[in-house]
Amino acid sequence: MKTQKRKLGHLSVCLSRDVQSGRPNGLERYELVHDALPEMGREDVNTSTSFLGHDFSAPIFIEAMTGGTSQASKINRNLAKAAEELGIGMGMGSQRAMIEGPAVAPTYEVRKVAPHIFLAGNIGAAQITEIGVGKLVRAVKRIKADALAVHLNPAQEVAQDGGHVKWTGVLESIRDLCAAVDFPVIAKEVGCGISGDVAVRLEKAGVAAIDVAGAGGTSWVKVDSIITGKPLDNFYDWGIATAECLEQCLQRVKVPVIASGGIRTGIDAAKALAMGASLAGIALPLLKPAARSSAAVKEALERIIMELETSMFLVSARNIEELRGKIAKS
Ligand SMILES: Cc1cc2nc3c(=O)[nH]c(=O)nc-3n(C[C@H](O)[C@H](O)[C@H](O)COP(=O)(O)O)c2cc1C
Repeated sequence: MKTQKRKLGHLSVCLSRDVQSGRPNGLERYELVHDALPEMGREDVNTSTSFLGHDFSAPIFIEAMTGGTSQASKINRNLAKAAEELGIGMGMGSQRAMIEGPAVAPTYEVRKVAPHIFLAGNIGAAQITEIGVGKLVRAVKRIKADALAVHLNPAQEVAQDGGHVKWTGVLESIRDLCAAVDFPVIAKEVGCGISGDVAVRLEKAGVAAIDVAGAGGTSWVKVDSIITGKPLDNFYDWGIATAECLEQCLQRVKVPVIASGGIRTGIDAAKALAMGASLAGIALPLLKPAARSSAAVKEALERIIMELETSMFLVSARNIEELRGKIAKS
């Protein structure tokens, strides 16, 4: 119940207030290298890629958002239907509510409208031990997800009433989870970023991918402080900028890295991919469209994909491999 109420509050605040961080995500410090002689056609661009063995028509990922309420159910279906039609992937919101109250499990079930997409389940890393691996596996299987994302969110938890602030043994619980399950585990932040050092520890623990969710996008300290009234405004912009996370993680780990946290345009996505990210993830800009219809989500994503394709043409990249490295610090 408490979890459901919190998720309702998150949706309401994210839909009605400005929760974008006041700081940039760092990608503004980079420029894609314009090619005035691309020697290819705009129609030659092919954005297809694969991630953890799954085909994507474009390297775009809908980041984890919601579940557990009837509004969340509609949002999830609209996101999933658009993802299916576009051939991209999606992360489900935290499954804690359905683990605590199985009656709300249907609000997470999107396979009817999205039978083919790469779908990641989601749980807080700090809750792994308390919930236990058995229940987590059942929750992942129940929604027929292909992977489980575990979110690392110590700053967000500080802003919540009764948030989890005893972060001991969390890495060990991730290690135990990775060893016990037959699906890939993705480690993600929620907007404060994953450093190179943390990425190395997570890779050693067995995660299959890292989603940096860096600073410069949605501020979760802000969202939860608005709800709880905690005086944490000096922490609204806390964290490691997305571009900085990418630089550090891509240097230090071999597992695929998802760029997220303030990805707002196809140019942002192209920059992150040029730096070496495997996918670009987007949450907040898709929330309002998802509250309306799947057509609205599709329209927002089509624009981002169109901008990615245009960027690729303008740097003379026929495919994602050719896009790699076509970037410079400005
Ligand atoms: C409404 C909303 C709800 C979210 N809920 C979750 C969640 O349940 N689990 C999670 O791992 N991340 C959650 N996130 C964080 C996103 O997955 C993402 O990491 C973060 O918002 C940064 O991306 P953005 O700047 O594009 O919004 C949520 C984001 C939004 C906007």
